Amino acid sequence: MATSDQVKALLKSHADGDDRRFYSIARQIAAEAAQKGHGKIAQEIKEMLDSVSDRPVNAVHIDRPNAIPLVQPKGELGGLISVEYSNLKLDDLILPVETAQRLNRIVLEHRQKHRLHEHGLNPRSKILLVGPPGTGKTMTAKALAGEMRLPTFSIQLDRLLTKYLGETAAKLRLVFDNIKQTRGIYFFDEFDAIGGKRNVGNDIGEVRRVLNSFLQFIDDAGSDSLVLAATNHPEILDQALFRRFDDVIFYEMPDRDLVLKTLKANLKGQNTKNVKWNEVADAAAALSFAEITRVCTDAMKTVILEDWESLSTQLLLDVINQRLQVKS
Ligand SMILES: Nc1ncnc2c1ncn2[C@@H]1O[C@H](COP(=O)(O)OP(=O)(O)OP(=O)(O)O)[C@@H](O)[C@H]1O
Ligand SMILES: [Mg+2]
Repeated sequence: MATSDQVKALLKSHADGDDRRFYSIARQIAAEAAQKGHGKIAQEIKEMLDSVSDRPVNAVHIDRPNAIPLVQPKGELGGLISVEYSNLKLDDLILPVETAQRLNRIVLEHRQKHRLHEHGLNPRSKILLVGPPGTGKTMTAKALAGEMRLPTFSIQLDRLLTKYLGETAAKLRLVFDNIKQTRGIYFFDEFDAIGGKRNVGNDIGEVRRVLNSFLQFIDDAGSDSLVLAATNHPEILDQALFRRFDDVIFYEMPDRDLVLKTLKANLKGQNTKNVKWNEVADAAAALSFAEITRVCTDAMKTVILEDWESLSTQLLLDVINQRLQVKS
């Protein structure tokens, strides 16, 4: 039978959303039951575990009652707010060491939030992600969701504003009222659409109302959830807003080391014995992580379609040049 420590550990891992630990403790209980001769119970637990672990990780969340309230907004808001489950991990991101450490710290604080709570502290839960296109901001939201096993609710603020000019604040409010009870990652993309100092072409009153609604939401969201806002344009953000976040994380274009790492990571498993990495990395110097990823996919497709045996330096240089032309 499970010991009281095991029951406590089960409860704690459940509260932390740490499914991996939850199942590992359950397996431990089954193994101990088998050792003690409680074969039937051990078998039953194992079967239950097998049937759950056959399902995708996400399904475990979908089954959770507290993840249900706003599974996918229907009707007019449906296209503007989406919910997604992810298996990405922080290790899938290629980042400077310091950025990776800061993201790991967020996960650690959430995993260990009980210890923080005991001292009257909360995990950091309102984070602003700043940086150029294609540097991993959206991917970060998904990776944090994967690590924390939570759904991601994405809200496209710029589209929301253009679509519902005049009534966005009220609509947003409705949605917020619905979702703030649900533990999740809330990802507000194009945050400058509401956080900017000036909003040319928009009704300023409306933008302010939406911003206030957003700020109210992040105050009410509680520290169990994670609110992420992302922008490419920090220069137009109202400085006062930076203070509303627990952390601001800056993303950069990859330096040479990271260009190389991204190329190699994306071409893993390919035959690259003839590739002159230095030449390719030089050529790709001005590309973002996202563009390098696409370059690699393009090159792999050509190898398949042309039935080539391996990737060549020339092919990679060609696809990089094509990408650079699209940019200019
Ligand atoms: N740091 C990174 N490490 C690994 N892959 C990355 C990284 N950044 C981007 N990518 C790749 O590029 C894709 C697009 O990146 P992502 O959507 O995260 O960029 P973004 O910073 O959100 O850009 P935007 O500002 O245009 O929204 C990712 O799905 C991933 O394949
Ligand atoms: Mg993005």
